[in-house]
Amino acid sequence: MHSTIESIRNNFRSDLINVNNHQDLEVIRVKYLGRQGILADLMTQLKDLSADDKKTFGPACNQLKAEFQELHQQTQALLFAREQELIARKAAAFDVTISKPLQQGSLHPYTYITQEIEDIFMSMGFAVADGPELETDYNNFGALNIPADHPARAESDTFWLPDMQRLLRTHTSTVQIKTMREQTPPIAIICPGRALRNEATDASHDFMFMQIEGMLIDKNISIANLLAVLKEFLDKLFGKSLQLRVRPGFFPFVEPGLEIDAQCPFCTTGCSTCKHTCWIELLGAGLIHPNVLRNAGIDPTIYSGFAFGSGLTRLAMLKYHITDIRLIHSGKIEFLEQF
Ligand code: PHE
Repeated sequence: MHSTIESIRNNFRSDLINVNNHQDLEVIRVKYLGRQGILADLMTQLKDLSADDKKTFGPACNQLKAEFQELHQQTQALLFAREQELIARKAAAFDVTISKPLQQGSLHPYTYITQEIEDIFMSMGFAVADGPELETDYNNFGALNIPADHPARAESDTFWLPDMQRLLRTHTSTVQIKTMREQTPPIAIICPGRALRNEATDASHDFMFMQIEGMLIDKNISIANLLAVLKEFLDKLFGKSLQLRVRPGFFPFVEPGLEIDAQCPFCTTGCSTCKHTCWIELLGAGLIHPNVLRNAGIDPTIYSGFAFGSGLTRLAMLKYHITDIRLIHSGKIEFLEQF
């Protein structure tokens, strides 16, 4: 028994010398100190010894175990200290002055065009307003004089919440209502923001797109005011004087309602952008319907106003010559790097 104990002790020590890392150490711990390890085996051999031998070798085995545990702990501490030293050495060798070419981020085209449009309208005295993307049926439709049977309310166009009371706004015209309730005329605001419609996606449609809403309310506001503001806006945005073309259009929240086209900024004789017509459809607009003013607490016998709504996504695509809406929303760095 004595020689068995000695040889186990020697084996343990020589195994320990070869330990390089925590995994090695764990293998040895299991081999000697594990539940089915060498020491456990030794302990079971004790019960076959005579009473006298038990008195001698019992304590000897326990001492061996304590010794192994102690050595195991010391080795563990040593490995840990060595690791820490390595980390510290690596950190000291890290050269903060080394310069590598970094991939540069960029702003999104929406950000650029929004900033530019906000600047143009602020120079004309407009403020930038905001409103929630999650709206009530009333703010998105009812208050805007959109009757219950209007196709825009159809389930196929609108993302409804399961309660069928709330929805993701289908246009930024909701912000007209919110602003009218919060402010008293004169009011002049624009609101760039997201609109969501339950539509199939192709090169020119996505279920999410950006719009820009504009609204001005004061005494004696007319279509002439609307056209003057829009001309100034589009001329500045496209960097040249553009002719506007006005057609009648129908939107329940304006009367009269207009569709406004601008002369194609990119050609004089027709190009692919304007589909060889030399005109580009840009905006829906009109004088705010008296019902809408009344719904939002403004007296239509005193005040009048204009409103317009344009696809900010479409304006961005035109300005930056982007041919597929899906690219704008892709978040691809190769795309964004061009701006
Ligand atoms: N809200 C309309 C749309 O989404 C645009 C619009 C805004 C038209 C304001 C007239 C006045 O198509």
